[in-house]
Amino acid sequence: MNQRNNHRVVLFPLPLQGHINPMLQLGQILHARGFSITILHTNFNAPDPSSHPHFTFRSIACGLHRSEVSMSDIPDLISLLNTQCASPFEEHLREMMSLPGGDAVPIACVISDSLFSFTCGVAERLKVRALVLLTGGATSLHVYTILRLLKEKGYFSIDGLSGSRSEEAVKEFPSLLVRDIPGVHSQKPEMVLELFDNMIKVIKSSPGVIFNTFEELEQPALASVREVLSVPDFVIGPLHKCYVTSSSSSLLEEDRSCISWLDEQPLKSVIYVSFGSAAVVREAEILEIALGLANSKQPFLWVVRPRLVRDPEWLKKSPSHFLEALKRRGKLVKWAPQMKVLAHPAVGAFWTHSGWNSTLESISEGVPMLCMPRFSDQGVNARYVSDIWRVGVHLNGGLDRENIARAISTNLFIS
Ligand code: UDX
Repeated sequence: MNQRNNHRVVLFPLPLQGHINPMLQLGQILHARGFSITILHTNFNAPDPSSHPHFTFRSIACGLHRSEVSMSDIPDLISLLNTQCASPFEEHLREMMSLPGGDAVPIACVISDSLFSFTCGVAERLKVRALVLLTGGATSLHVYTILRLLKEKGYFSIDGLSGSRSEEAVKEFPSLLVRDIPGVHSQKPEMVLELFDNMIKVIKSSPGVIFNTFEELEQPALASVREVLSVPDFVIGPLHKCYVTSSSSSLLEEDRSCISWLDEQPLKSVIYVSFGSAAVVREAEILEIALGLANSKQPFLWVVRPRLVRDPEWLKKSPSHFLEALKRRGKLVKWAPQMKVLAHPAVGAFWTHSGWNSTLESISEGVPMLCMPRFSDQGVNARYVSDIWRVGVHLNGGLDRENIARAISTNLFIS
């Protein structure tokens, strides 16, 4: 056990997988530097304390339950969390500050997700230092800072939504196409804009922001946001590469049988397919994905998490062509140990929804990506992966079986 430094850091992650992971990774890094770590978390989507026995866990009753919450409306969920968590967060912090015993190590700092709008205010009132963690990339943050301007310029109008302008370049941000703009395809663009306005306000008024990225990847965006934000920043990333551990912060059980399956596949032959923790696909889309994988001829490892598709019977209804391919050269899991999968020598490509964690994890392992962004920052991430960093390609031409098979065989696995 390394030397403790008699300071506690309280971490408060947003209860979504893509936000819990980087926050707990940050906890691992700080713990390795001698800090005691308390994870303050909502009872909804709570991390598993047994995976991190060296952290202290405290649960906030936010009044939300997994079965009742719709993951298809993330802006609504975040707004609800901001309303319901403010008072219990303050109560817990007060209690921790006055507690003798287990939590007696003094609080050096609170670090909360940048989508929580109340944490820095509470910490300031209680005279506790507070920082925020940005779980997305610096480039998408840069785009958020001009979203209001893009709205004024008409990019969020019906015209943009209907798709007729969706392939046009954004004049104010030339590396992007209209379809890449966060929120442009949302049913509630105003709510998305408000969410990002609040995030920027939180970061600007915070004593400092932590970025999960690295200068070599996002230097131009970091330079731009530094000018706009004028707050101290700490670039610590990729977080998952800054410490060594075997513990995971998955909310779903990881199916480790996929690793022994990968062990049997030829070097760099497998396409790993996962669309993260929140994206959903329609029944017609899952059929095209299945047939695209079957037609591609590559071995595939596909994560179909519960609720990725509404119909739980989708597999039974799949055509025999796919079921045969699955038997011969495929593996289906509900949740994978993704970082281990991407680091496996049999994996040759990653078909991803371009969430920021997945993007960083894939870049870190040198795995090329097939990008299929769905919402939020994913369009920006995918555009940078394909056009700027050139470590992947877009799935252009639609979610259609032939197109998918062609993209996999000709763009990712060139024989
Ligand atoms: C969300 C947003 O969609 C994303 O755009 C934003 O940047 C962060 O929050 P999510 O959609 O879940 O996150 O995607 P991503 O950021 O890629 O995070 C998913 C995490 O779950 C990754 O760390 C990945 O390793 C992990 N994962 C995913 C698994 O461990 N197993 C799986 O089977 C799938």
